[in-house]
Amino acid sequence: MFEKITAAPADPILGLTDEFKNDTRPEKINLGVGIYKDESGNTPVLATVKKAEAILLEKETTKSYLGIPGTAEYGLAVQQLLFGANATIISDKRAQTAQAPGGTGALRVAAEFIKRQLGDVKVWISNPTWANHIGVFAAAGLETASYSYYNAETKDIDFDAALADLANANEGDIVLLHGCCHNPTGIDPVEAQWHQLAALCVEKKLLPMFDFAYQGFAVGVEEDAQGLRIFAEQCSELLVASSFSKNFGLYNERVGAFTLVGKNAEQAATAFSQVKSIARVIYSNPPAHGAAIVTLILNDEALRNEWEQEVADMRNRIQEMRTLFVQTLKDCGVDADFSFIERQNGMFSFSGLNKDQVNRLKEEFGIYIVGSGRISVAGMTKNNMLPLCKGIAAVL
Ligand code: LMR
Repeated sequence: MFEKITAAPADPILGLTDEFKNDTRPEKINLGVGIYKDESGNTPVLATVKKAEAILLEKETTKSYLGIPGTAEYGLAVQQLLFGANATIISDKRAQTAQAPGGTGALRVAAEFIKRQLGDVKVWISNPTWANHIGVFAAAGLETASYSYYNAETKDIDFDAALADLANANEGDIVLLHGCCHNPTGIDPVEAQWHQLAALCVEKKLLPMFDFAYQGFAVGVEEDAQGLRIFAEQCSELLVASSFSKNFGLYNERVGAFTLVGKNAEQAATAFSQVKSIARVIYSNPPAHGAAIVTLILNDEALRNEWEQEVADMRNRIQEMRTLFVQTLKDCGVDADFSFIERQNGMFSFSGLNKDQVNRLKEEFGIYIVGSGRISVAGMTKNNMLPLCKGIAAVL
């Protein structure tokens, strides 16, 4: 029966990680997948996570199932992180949250929810976007359309083009936005632009959906929710997929959440009953460990403060690498202006390297970059910076 099956293409990001692992060159550098590396090139367990785990190990009394949406404490902690501790959306019970297996799991639940409950609407996705977005929505049978986002010449957001494209969306369509640290460009809308986007969604009756995977990696945990909170003020309904892979370093624990905000408590609760049915037929109920860690850290004042400092340390190290990268490229004789890298947020930048250059970097130098030219700045260290920049200088 299987003889008819043809091989699936390798994943553009995770497939590259496999290739990297199989590369035997000791000097190889992985700037593909978005995983934070410290100065020694390791991805450590956060100190607060270790502390929370020790407490959990001591206190845990059962491995019994969680409910379909996970625990209420986790849901509340997620909502407070998204909308602010005292948000009326929360006190009015307009938000409902289901824990999901990672940000991707949350997106997939959202996609099913959209398809089953909102019908044949289109999902508008920025061009470029995370390599998995289109696949996740297509897997639920949804049609996707793209809106312009990036101007390769100015290396900035092409905001007018984005608005012009979104003007073609129909009532009920979904607009997918990156909460902060746009993946892959690292360029986020500024405050006035968030307002304009939210106004457009209200005017055209579009449903905003946020993919929020890097909260804390741009400016700060609270500050990075600015765009989402502007939308929450203006739009009566919205969807959010959260991921705690990066800001808690809980990559392999698969901790995410799908949050929906309704016009009122009753509509939110009814819609959420459908979310629960969707989760039940995909994974039944979520894994407990990672969400328990996040809940504990966010609800304990000392751990929370320490965690925010850990996030700040990761953010600042990446920013330091951005500056060093631009300087080292100059030192290696690169004339092209790479200063835009310093203006971008989060783990990624769109380097402007083309496919041939990306291939040469891999083949000749063991430097792994996603085919689109996206580089994970989080994978740079003081030790790999010089060989990295020499490689780039050679292929430019
Ligand atoms: C990335 O964009 O590199 C990360 O979000 C990891 C992934 O799953 O692709």
